Amino acid sequence: MKRHYTILVVDDEPSMREVLRLRLGQWGFEVAVAASASEAEALAAKASLDLVLCDVVLPDGSGLDLLPKLRGDSAPRPVIMITAHGSIDAAVEAVKRGARDFLTKPLDYTKLKAVLDDAVSEVEQRSSLKRLEETLAKGSGLGPLIGDSKPMLDLYELIDVLAGSDASALITGESGTGKELVAHAIHDRSRRASGPFVAVNAAAIPEGLMESELFGNEKGAFTGAVSARPGCFELANRGTLFLDEIAEMPAPLQPKFLRTLENGRVRRLGGATENAFDVRLLAATNRVPEEAVRDGLLRADLYYRLNVFTLVLPPLRERKEDVPLLVQHFVGLFNRKHGASAAGVRPDVLALLQAYPWPGNVRELRNVIERAVILARAGWIELSHLPPYVRRPDDAGEDLRLPAGLTLAEAEKVLILQTLKEADQNKAEAARRLGLDVKTIRNKLKQYGLDGR
Ligand SMILES: Nc1ncnc2c1ncn2[C@@H]1O[C@H](COP(=O)(O)OP(=O)(O)OP(=O)(O)O)[C@@H](O)[C@H]1O
Ligand SMILES: [Mg+2]
Repeated sequence: MKRHYTILVVDDEPSMREVLRLRLGQWGFEVAVAASASEAEALAAKASLDLVLCDVVLPDGSGLDLLPKLRGDSAPRPVIMITAHGSIDAAVEAVKRGARDFLTKPLDYTKLKAVLDDAVSEVEQRSSLKRLEETLAKGSGLGPLIGDSKPMLDLYELIDVLAGSDASALITGESGTGKELVAHAIHDRSRRASGPFVAVNAAAIPEGLMESELFGNEKGAFTGAVSARPGCFELANRGTLFLDEIAEMPAPLQPKFLRTLENGRVRRLGGATENAFDVRLLAATNRVPEEAVRDGLLRADLYYRLNVFTLVLPPLRERKEDVPLLVQHFVGLFNRKHGASAAGVRPDVLALLQAYPWPGNVRELRNVIERAVILARAGWIELSHLPPYVRRPDDAGEDLRLPAGLTLAEAEKVLILQTLKEADQNKAEAARRLGLDVKTIRNKLKQYGLDGR
């Protein structure tokens, strides 16, 4: 037991109270005693009681009627009833009315110890849950970002610096680490907050449409241009343009993009005039930018323009202390979304969640918790609510043995291919396990020269 828990013993028999006071004291409890229902009721009104041991037959009433008062309503405390030998009906009724357990007289102390240990672990779980919820309620991150680990606190500081400036920035980090959320946070705290936040994902737009997406087009500028459309610079005017997966922007378009950005004026495809815009650019990539430059995916001049500030988001496995808060945050989120009332995760489950390496980072954790909330619906999230590969990372498949000296990109490739193999080449399933978008997997496969469809 981490701290001394206070237990209330309610019994009218003085010898019984004394025996229990001694025993429970030996087991590390603070013991309070009451000889009657009215005395017990007065003590139970105080929040400092953690659990209750209560006789059913009391001189001034029934322990059963007292039960609701003993439990209290906000955070119900465990109440264990003691019934006379043979009074099964009273025991059944007690459990029906919310008693945690019942014991019969004469007391079996081994059994009592086991029941109390169990109740204490419930109390411990509730109080750690309460602490998490209090931390979440008073704000445990920055805007929508959850986490109070050192790397996240450093990140929040940088976000604030960036929010106060108008400089371009490049946000890097593995998939699912929260790059888009960070871009939002910067925008929301900047002087542009009342302006638009326009997100463009260079990996999601078909290559042929990219140019008009970026720069806009006049009607009839190309086959299929049935109407005039503003590009993202115009759409983001007086706001923030978030260019996601910038290294996937076709290389031939990058010089024009950079020129447009620097001029602050854009000419739509097929257009005759230039429109001025006032846009702050935030870009993101889950590649290592220097490698993307070296591989000819990202033009150096564009990279230098973006690299005024670089925010590197830490992978979740490097800030496991954030896992409990994130879990509780997502439990709340998905309770609301699915009309569920899961309480939280049991300590053994939390230990597993902290041990798992989260290759798909926060997105993967989010998916795992959504699934668990749906399965659990109410009560605690148990081991059985976790997907098997999180539950038993050891036999999730073959161990990946990577020779030192492999580049990150090469290691990523091995992991993706191995996951695909274990998912029977099902890209959607592999994407889910890795916490990636299917489209990201397809793009990667294409890059590897494998079929990406
Ligand atoms: N610190 C965080 N707190 C709360 N939620 C987070 C955090 N980081 C990420 N998320 C959530 O995880 C998911 C993935 O985040 P996001 O889309 O920002 O990642 P990303 O880095 O842009 O990933 P990708 O490279 O795959 O596009 C989102 O649902 C986001 O809300
Ligand atoms: Mg993203």
